[in-house]
Amino acid sequence: MEFSDVMTRRHSVRNFKAEAIPGELLADIVRTASRAPSWENSQPWNVYIATGETLKKIRKIWRDKYAEKTKGSPDMPTGHRTNFSPRSQQSMKDFMASVGEFCGDPELKHFLELNEFLFHAPALVYLTLGKGHTGWPIYDLGAFGLALMLAAKDRGIDSIPAYEIVKYPAELRPLLSVPEDEEIIMGIALGYAADDRVNEFSSSRLPVETILTLKE
Ligand SMILES: Cc1cc2nc3c(=O)[nH]c(=O)nc-3n(C[C@H](O)[C@H](O)[C@H](O)COP(=O)(O)O)c2cc1C
Repeated sequence: MEFSDVMTRRHSVRNFKAEAIPGELLADIVRTASRAPSWENSQPWNVYIATGETLKKIRKIWRDKYAEKTKGSPDMPTGHRTNFSPRSQQSMKDFMASVGEFCGDPELKHFLELNEFLFHAPALVYLTLGKGHTGWPIYDLGAFGLALMLAAKDRGIDSIPAYEIVKYPAELRPLLSVPEDEEIIMGIALGYAADDRVNEFSSSRLPVETILTLKE
């Protein structure tokens, strides 16, 4: 696929088919993503992928947590909305309004509920970093995450990056064999898009003039 097609066709898919992704293909996607740049080529990322029985166990934990109404307790604090700039807060409001408009009432519930089902994805990717970092590796990990989603799209596989996937790290750690000296930073669901209207939702972007200062 042309780069511009990969970039524009990648969007967050929130409902996946059960169809599994072959292990070799997952490894290939991770191999491509590892071409991402990092501070002094430090390559600080670690990647854990849950499929099959491990994923079944994770799903069961999520069902139980939702039944108990347990609040998320991620390794990286979420902070408050006011930690975002006023412009970002507005973009977040606009995003939720456009989701509401796209879905309408009953479908909005379905759209939001797919989170607790971990989007029915056949593979969940967990990105971790060694504890005690300066903050710079978060930049590297973000680059890695986007490279991974684009590499997946190039191979016909859809994705969604989601806080939802990492909100109960204490329960994930033993299942994924993540050592205590690593933080589980981010999760990305991978799979083939299900035939569901929610997957047609397309998010907007700010005009480039809003985000760019070009000095001559
Ligand atoms: C750090 C981060 C956390 C996110 N968490 C969630 C989430 O928990 N649930 C969800 O449905 N989408 C989540 N998203 C997806 C965003 O809503 C989505 O990327 C954004 O609206 C832009 O849309 P697009 O990915 O379709 O281009 C998250 C995205 C990022 C980058």
